Amino acid sequence: MERRFAIIEHRAPSSGKINLNDLPGSSGRIDVLARAINTALFLSHGIREDTDVTLHLMGGTGPARRIWLQGSRLRGVHPDERAIAGQIAKALKNPIPAIGQWVELHPGFWHSGGAIEQTIREWEKEACRIFVLDAEGVPFSKDPLNHESVGFILSDDQPFSDIELKSMESIEKVSLGSTWLQGNACISILHHLIDN
Ligand SMILES: C[S@@+](CC[C@H](N)C(=O)[O-])C[C@H]1O[C@@H](n2cnc3c(N)ncnc32)[C@H](O)[C@@H]1O
Repeated sequence: MERRFAIIEHRAPSSGKINLNDLPGSSGRIDVLARAINTALFLSHGIREDTDVTLHLMGGTGPARRIWLQGSRLRGVHPDERAIAGQIAKALKNPIPAIGQWVELHPGFWHSGGAIEQTIREWEKEACRIFVLDAEGVPFSKDPLNHESVGFILSDDQPFSDIELKSMESIEKVSLGSTWLQGNACISILHHLIDN
């Protein structure tokens, strides 16, 4: 089953510079994004070709940018946080494409304008079954999953905004337990549940 993870980073700048020497501090939580990408896409040796990650960079003063890492095509990204952050930093030097127009910067590494509502619309068109991850949701069960593609939406260390919650109101909220975990831990658990 194909897996997709959408991660919303509320303070990461959508344009400009990222300080690679201070990933958790001066540029929003780029370290959180890098860890989530690492967990979602990298195996001990190789890449999960059945997995895609869409980052939502909502910070800074300009419009939002999305970055899509497509596991089946991805080349030239390495599983260390600083290298992943370096790839994101390079993307930020390019103008933001129009909403919904995906531009491939290098194999499997795309960017576009837009926010989570566009991602939801695109996933729905592609018949992806979508869940919002929320510790207070209903317990997640993979048993009724008979879709070819399943997508999960996660926030960073901040709660979803009211606008985000509105765009996700019709989507099922699922929990991996009542304890709030870090996003990358949630991704590991989901991979394990779906793999097995
Ligand atoms: C560090 S948590 C965010 C905690 C933040 N205080 C909040 O209220 O959203 C990052 C994301 O991981 C997901 N998450 C964390 N724990 C979870 C759980 N037990 N079940 C489902 N999703 C969870 C949620 O999507 C959450 O937004």
